[in-house]
Amino acid sequence: MMKARKSIYKKMVISTVVAANFLAAIPAFAAGVADDHTAIWSRQQAEKVALTKENTAPLVDMDFKLVAPDQWVWDTWPLQNRDGSLAIVNGYRVAFALVAPRSLGWGDRHTEARIGMFYSKNGKDWTYAGIPYNYDKALGHMQWAGTAMMDENGKVHLFYTATGDKSNWDNNGWDRRAVQRIAKTTFDINTDKNGVHLTNEGPHQIILEADGKYYETIENWKSNIITAFRDPFFFQDPNTGKEYIIFEGQAGTDRNYLKPENIGDEEYRNTHSVPEGAQLYNGNIGIAEVLDHDITKLKLLPPLLESVGANHQLERPHVVVNGDDYYLFTISHTFTYAPGLTGPDGVYGFVGKGLRSDYKPMNGSGLVIGNPKENPYQAYSWMVLPNQQVISFINEPKDANGQVQFGGTFAATLKLSLNGDQSEIGKEQRNGEIKPFGANR
Ligand code: FRU
Repeated sequence: MMKARKSIYKKMVISTVVAANFLAAIPAFAAGVADDHTAIWSRQQAEKVALTKENTAPLVDMDFKLVAPDQWVWDTWPLQNRDGSLAIVNGYRVAFALVAPRSLGWGDRHTEARIGMFYSKNGKDWTYAGIPYNYDKALGHMQWAGTAMMDENGKVHLFYTATGDKSNWDNNGWDRRAVQRIAKTTFDINTDKNGVHLTNEGPHQIILEADGKYYETIENWKSNIITAFRDPFFFQDPNTGKEYIIFEGQAGTDRNYLKPENIGDEEYRNTHSVPEGAQLYNGNIGIAEVLDHDITKLKLLPPLLESVGANHQLERPHVVVNGDDYYLFTISHTFTYAPGLTGPDGVYGFVGKGLRSDYKPMNGSGLVIGNPKENPYQAYSWMVLPNQQVISFINEPKDANGQVQFGGTFAATLKLSLNGDQSEIGKEQRNGEIKPFGANR
């Protein structure tokens, strides 16, 4: 009797362990890849990038208003709830964007970048509410792009890039020395008849730094284009509940070389040569797992995707989940393509069956929205939101005389339709418009 009971118990334990192992393995099985798999955007795929009717952005309307008349405004992101839905605080929608005084030259704004706050009741008319934090407490000489999440207790977590050090700042050749680190701070959020206020600013903390192995440090950097360890995106996976910070990185010492897969399949490799210097273009999309509820302890994981030999920068990466499909989006420039390749300034997308998966480029090439040929720098920094609205900013559009103007304000919101690995640009909405959207899924 005793013996029989023991063996039933033993069987139960074994089957529980087997079930637990099986469950733990499901996400990897679902996506069909190992937990450390890094997908590749190859030269062969990137070579297919071309503007089509479905992926060419409509021309920017030059009759635009400035959302903050004394500020340059560029990279923009809305305040989202922990599950990715749009935060609505007593009827207000909130957005953050990089800002710098318009009294500075357009090209000088990056070294003076701060994060400004905007709010709106209807998601169309935005009020600029200034920089919500104390610059002296913030980290970095400048604060670059990030994301913002309001947790279940109403705490706002602002994730950003702390770039350069405040001490001994020197504008001369700054990009060779300005280390990028991922930082966060917190606030309480209040509203009254005068709008939205962020109060009770918490400490600013560095939560992630390049490790050299998966992610290049500034000391390892060899290219002519600035290195990257920036643009944190907070993401809660709706299928596992796990949380991550996804960011723009550059391949570290373990992958900083051209592998055959970075070039293409065997036939492509036999028929195409790789120009000298292509291996210095080593963009990747990084990921770190969040280990605590306050998002202060994180563990760096191998990158989700890399474009070694194809493109140097995969900026502002972000994820949208649509049914079973995980869409990994990132913005990139013409000038960051490796020698022998080209493509427009645009937002590029990759689709897989899990957060870590063998991502395939959207539309065969990766291009989802590109600036039109006749106006190649009209907009930049697209962000695809969970309901597939796409926000961006007006960058350097050409006017009716073909003269380049500087925008520095919200561009018209676009609507994207996603169908498996195909996408199409749909109807245009108002400049800066953000309609309420639900959780990722
Ligand atoms: C994209 C970007 C970001 C960076 C910011 C700096 O427009 O290059 O990667 O955080 O601009 O201005």
